[in-house]
Amino acid sequence: MKLLLATSILTGVSGSETFRDALSNISGKTTTKYVGAAVNEGFFDDAHYKETSSDYYNLVTAENSCKFSAVQKTQGTFDFASCDQVAQFAEDNDMAFRGHNTCWGVYNPSWLDNGNFTSSDFVGILENHVTTVLDHYQGKAVAWDIVNEAISDSAPYDFKANTWNNITADADGINTNYIDVAFRAARKADPNAKLFYNDYNVASSQGWSQGKSDAMYNMVKSMLDRGVPIDGVGLQMHVGTGYDLVDGVIANMERYGALGLEVHITELDLVCSQKNGYDCVWSDDMEQQQGELYATLLKACLDTDACTNFETWGFTDAHSWLEDGTHPLPFDENYNQKKAVGSMLDILTGY
Ligand code: GLA
Repeated sequence: MKLLLATSILTGVSGSETFRDALSNISGKTTTKYVGAAVNEGFFDDAHYKETSSDYYNLVTAENSCKFSAVQKTQGTFDFASCDQVAQFAEDNDMAFRGHNTCWGVYNPSWLDNGNFTSSDFVGILENHVTTVLDHYQGKAVAWDIVNEAISDSAPYDFKANTWNNITADADGINTNYIDVAFRAARKADPNAKLFYNDYNVASSQGWSQGKSDAMYNMVKSMLDRGVPIDGVGLQMHVGTGYDLVDGVIANMERYGALGLEVHITELDLVCSQKNGYDCVWSDDMEQQQGELYATLLKACLDTDACTNFETWGFTDAHSWLEDGTHPLPFDENYNQKKAVGSMLDILTGY
């Protein structure tokens, strides 16, 4: 017994350690506070699902149930039942709850997308939604993605055409955009909630994502310059096992840190892929490569002061938005640890 204990201290590895325990043991050495996962309350009747997520992670995000379409299916009627289940799950298990999201261009209810509204109607709808949601979760959410995925995928990286882009002036008649409206309403509703802008293909400021990444940085910087309240950015990171832009991710996180902002890696998953495609051949080697990349990215977050949350989009291959057979997450279909779990624990325990 004593020998076992001594061995585990020496190697820094304990068989029973989980991400959240290991992270709490190094809390003085890193500014990273959370290792998180998106969860879906639809699977809460599966004990494995609940136990694995609450044992390993100290932050959860609802996969879908806090989105506009879930919360305000009918205009003016708010239904928080499903989103509340995730917030309650977090509270019951001493995890942080991360809100996602109040404003997005897709998956909106048809009354919103197909209604005959003016710019000022949209301002009212957006302000009412953001205010009601932030109010409801006042003191319960550590952060909210206030706006999700506003920026186009190719040059000149302007705002995507969507319902919210019909907003051309805010309530005071100042020419603005929907992003400003949403963030201002959020700060007013809950001055203590951390407000995030979240997007994809923006994690690295180098390589193929440089264009969109620079556009997002410039957008966020200009928000700060004109006094729009924002506390952080979410880098989604739906990428693959061949992802090779980690240095660019670090550089990007650092430039947000220099603006005084936090960075959350929000939706990481590593789909099995060859270098530039999705023709996956899953093998021990591929699982090893995936595990090493999870660990490298986790270390990048731990090492970078701005990075306060390292979060995957789901945690088990049994429940991922990605196709079956792509093996994107740290636990397999049966909740067994894949190599990623050991590699991440090695980074945390050896930190
Ligand atoms: C985007 C959204 C998430 C989720 C994923 C995939 O990244 O931000 O809420 O819908 O797509 O499902």
